[in-house]
Order: sequence, then C-alpha cells, then structure tokens
Amino acid sequence: MYQRTKDILDKIIELKRKRNAVILAHNYQLPEVQDVADFVGDSLELAKKALNVDADIIVFAGVSFMAEMAAALNPDKIVLHPDPSAGCPLADYATPDIIKKYKEEHPNVPVVLYVNSLAVSKALADYVVTSSSAVSLIKRIGKDEVLFGPDKNLADHVMKMTGIKVIPLPPHGHCPVHQYLIDEYHLIKALEEHPNAKVLVHPEAPPEVRARADFIGSTSQMLKAVKDMNAKEFIMGTEEGLSYRARKLYPEKKVYPLNPRAICIDMKKITPLKILRSLETLKPRVILDKEVSRRVREVIERSLEMLR
Ligand code: 13P
Ligand code: SF4
Repeated sequence: MYQRTKDILDKIIELKRKRNAVILAHNYQLPEVQDVADFVGDSLELAKKALNVDADIIVFAGVSFMAEMAAALNPDKIVLHPDPSAGCPLADYATPDIIKKYKEEHPNVPVVLYVNSLAVSKALADYVVTSSSAVSLIKRIGKDEVLFGPDKNLADHVMKMTGIKVIPLPPHGHCPVHQYLIDEYHLIKALEEHPNAKVLVHPEAPPEVRARADFIGSTSQMLKAVKDMNAKEFIMGTEEGLSYRARKLYPEKKVYPLNPRAICIDMKKITPLKILRSLETLKPRVILDKEVSRRVREVIERSLEMLR
C-alpha cells in the first residue's frame, strides 16, 4: 500500500528501467501521467513514435484506439493499456457494418477513417488520418469525393479546407467533449474574460466555434501555434488537459482552457497507480486478432507514406 504519490512515481521509474518499458501518453492525460511519460504527443506523433519504439514493453496512457494502434504497429512487443475501459465514444460510431454498407452504396469512393476508430474498422479502410494529417492526405488522394468517418465535424472541416466532397460516415458521429463542451457560449465567456487572447480550436469542435477560431489544428499543432503566434494569451478550444501541457512547454505565455469543464473522462481514467500495476503485472495487455493487426499496419503505413 503506497502512502505517497511520489512513491508511486518513483516505483514507476524504477520498474520502467528494469523492464525496458516506455510510457507513451496523449496530450490530454493527467499532469502527473504526462510528467512520468517518456513521450507525450498527439495521435500522429504517438503513431510515429510507436513505429520506432526501442523497448520491450509499451505502456499506453491514452484511450483504447490509441493502445490498439500501438499494438498493431508492434506485433512483437508487449503493449499494456492500464485501463481498458478507457474508450473513445467517438470511435464507436464507425462500426464495421456501417463501413461495409457505405462501401456498397459508394463503390470506388475511397474510405478514409479518422484515427479515432476501432481497429476492426481501420482494417476495412483505405487510409487512416489524424486531425493533423486529414486535410493534406485527403488532398493527396486526388479524388473528387471520399467517405470519411466517424467525426462529422472533422469531415466538415476537411470539406471546407479542400473543396473535396466528404461523405460523413455516419452523418452524426461526434466527440461528446468537443460537441457539447467546446461550445459557442463558453467561447463568448472566455473571450469576455480574455479579450486579447487568440482562439485555438480542435477540428472536432462544432462549426460555429471553428468559424471564430484564429487557428484550427490537432492538439500538438495547437501547442505549436502557442509557440509560434505573435501573441501572449491563448484560449484552448479543446479538452482541458492540453492547457497544462501548453503552460509547461511555454511558461512565458498565458493559456486558458475555453471551458475548464471540458474533460474527457476516458482519458482521465489512466492514473499513475494503474500504470504502476500494469508494469508490475504486465496486464492488461492489448491483444489484437493477427489479420486485423496486419491490415491496420498496412493501412497506417500506406497513409504515413502518403504524407512523406
Ligand atoms: P489529436 O490527434 O489532435 O491529439 O486528437 C485526439 C483526440 O482524441 C481529440 O479529441
Ligand atoms: Fe474521444 Fe473526445 Fe475523448 Fe478525444 S476527447 S478521446 S475524441 S471522447
């Protein structure tokens, strides 16, 4: 029984070394999880990092689709997800049955899936994109129309940025955190409190919030905007965890969450104690069907190749 959080963190560091393990964490993770991680990033950075991990064990501090992707890219490594109940409700919208139905209705139209999707669904896609790669990859496909899911807001953003017809698959897929908590009311309120701040917004946010943004991009692109933009104050239109990371990286800037209550409870299910238990027991382990894993690897590698 640990009495102090510091003892838990010290034990994690000791076990990581002993087991030759790395901790990969998403930008929305709890501050103490970000601090104990070896690498923190957005979905694209985490996928690229997972491709080149020099360790025997990966502990994935994020939601299930991210841990699944790390497992697909590392079939010979042990991938641990400290809380398998940390899912992503957005990912569940594009089921394999829905993808098959849309494919039948739109033959010859490429299927592009957002990385926030299940491994069994990615296995049916032609390409997989993240919020940072969606616009450039879909342009490079060079078609007049694409099927895209499961996020309707990212689909709308891509359509506006490229002029390409994006058929949302399904029409109503959304992230509850961005759809309902990164809303116009909280944006107005945040701007009243910080009238000189630049507004940075994630593309999963609804159109009326994106329309008022100074910058739209993935979590790591938003962090880069904080660094690069000639401004001192920023309102972060995404899950509140990103503000911690921005403040840590750029302490000279002032960063405010658009809505401090915009919390992804699934991301926050990963705690240092669960990470420690995973390292102690080597459980829960992410196990994917071999064929699904091979297909996901193929689709992700093809997609990353398109971006080179
Ligand atoms: P990023 O790829 O921008 O980090 O987004 C992941 C996510 O889940 C956003 O809600
Ligand atoms: Fe999924 Fe939304 Fe949480 Fe991102 S913030 S992991 S899209 S539920």
